[in-house]
Amino acid sequence: MNELDRRDFIRSVAGAAALSATDFAAPTVTPEAGPVFLATWPHGKPAADRAAEVFHSGGSLLDAVEKGINVPEDDPKIMSVGYGGLPNEDGEVELDAAIMDGTRHRAGAVCAIHSIKNPISVARLVIEKTRHTTLAGEGAYQFAIKEGFKPMQLLTPASLQQWLDWRSTPNHEQFWVNPANHDTIGFVATDGKGHVVSGCSTSGTAWKIHGRVGDSPLVGCGVYADDNVGGASATGDGDIMTNYCTSVSIVHNMARGASPQDACVDLIKHMAATDPRNREAFICVIAIDNRGRAGAASMNAGPKFQYAIWQNGTSKMADAIVVY
Ligand code: GLY
Repeated sequence: MNELDRRDFIRSVAGAAALSATDFAAPTVTPEAGPVFLATWPHGKPAADRAAEVFHSGGSLLDAVEKGINVPEDDPKIMSVGYGGLPNEDGEVELDAAIMDGTRHRAGAVCAIHSIKNPISVARLVIEKTRHTTLAGEGAYQFAIKEGFKPMQLLTPASLQQWLDWRSTPNHEQFWVNPANHDTIGFVATDGKGHVVSGCSTSGTAWKIHGRVGDSPLVGCGVYADDNVGGASATGDGDIMTNYCTSVSIVHNMARGASPQDACVDLIKHMAATDPRNREAFICVIAIDNRGRAGAASMNAGPKFQYAIWQNGTSKMADAIVVY
């Protein structure tokens, strides 16, 4: 390294150190803020209610988020999560999920797991029983079986029928470049004492190519949680959102002082500025800080993005800010 390069290198390292010292200072936690649970879409409301119930019965925040997410995973009417989720192009349901603990700064994730209806619970066990972070495909399935999960057919008559209808649609192979159904349960929670958890579970985009993994199980994309700051999660077109590491971007913006609401909007504006075609994309995010302040935003108005918020003993649905 010549002297000029060496000086530039030292300056850039010193600059990075200064950035982390000032921009990533932890915000002050207001004690007694009380627990807050935030979950995407109308199916997030029973999930948030269940999470609150588990938490108030003495469960940990991780237990609460896991058991909350189990609700839509178990519900065959929710065709984008767990049992009854729409399958891949071969007619097999492949599920993705991740959960992140903001205290240990530790996530567990499973990708493209088949035959197991509660991938969030398998992801939780990846944290608790292994030193790995992510298990994929057959390996994730075998791990679940060893941990006592029971394999089952995840297709329901309704999801099978939708797949058959799609198969009989002329030119359905076009899906290799066109997005279809997207939806997910994204979840963020705080105990009101500075602890934060983020979770996400999905069957991914319908009719996806076998083995496709979206944003949901990727740490920093579908989930991110840091007790020093807060947590975020995402729902929508994971093939686009993965390229923006949405959740970690939001949390790092919060660490620099943005409110959860502003951090969600900033991320969406950044996506639109990077590629104006993203204005037409299905992009939705939620965030919470370690003081219990919440934020949510969607790129555009279609479909209307609603999220559930449980706070002070009750839950309600709220409309996210529409940015474009
Ligand atoms: N956001 C869910 C997915 O695209 O897989």
